[in-house]
Amino acid sequence: MSDTAPIEHPTRLTGGDFTEAAEPWRLFAAWFEEAKRAEPVNPDAMAVATVDGSGLPNVRMVLLKAFDEHGFVFYTNLGSVKAAELEGAPQAALTIYWKTLQRQVRARGAVEAVSAAEADAYFATRSRMAQIGAWASKQSAALESRMAFEKAIAQYTAKFALGAVPRPPFWSGFRIVPAEIEFWQERLFRLHDRIVFRRSATGTWSKTRLYP
Ligand SMILES: Cc1cc2nc3c(=O)[nH]c(=O)nc-3n(C[C@H](O)[C@H](O)[C@H](O)COP(=O)(O)O)c2cc1C
Repeated sequence: MSDTAPIEHPTRLTGGDFTEAAEPWRLFAAWFEEAKRAEPVNPDAMAVATVDGSGLPNVRMVLLKAFDEHGFVFYTNLGSVKAAELEGAPQAALTIYWKTLQRQVRARGAVEAVSAAEADAYFATRSRMAQIGAWASKQSAALESRMAFEKAIAQYTAKFALGAVPRPPFWSGFRIVPAEIEFWQERLFRLHDRIVFRRSATGTWSKTRLYP
């Protein structure tokens, strides 16, 4: 944004100064609720970074489908590049940017697979077409033509014509268990507010304010 264009400070929406938060999860929940009201498209979109076997980073958007004090959950194809990278190095970093609110959240930590029951429960909430799409997509593999994909979709639509569509065995979720979560709020003249929470070995959070 320009240095001269005054903006409303979105922190008013939280009814207080977010830098006074004592732990990250309630603050994240409050910001996410505001983002769902404020962002017209995909307030749940986050960039997730992994590394390949040579240490080269890779980053892509995924949707944040659940979060709680255990971590941030997204779902994907277990044959995808990201799944292979997480197999080799089960750690990740994520960034969410809510443009309308001029807020960024960053987190990083270990990654674990969600339970089969958790993945089943989420898969069951997806639209039927999205469920069939999960079966039909060999995510990140070379696709010869759009027609080949549509053919696979037609085949799975026929296969699962009756009853519920089961979760594919090659489709599940990952939980990023953060050791650090940072909250960043844009302020006028780029004099932004930043706080980072770091988790101790006993699970308690310490908070540090950072220069912007
Ligand atoms: C807004 C947005 C949301 C996305 N959500 C997901 C998602 O939840 N899961 C997923 O596997 N891919 C999602 N994608 C696609 C990924 O960005 C990526 O193209 C795909 O997962 C393959 O990544 P990989 O080859 O690194 O595994 C999304 C893309 C965008 C732009």
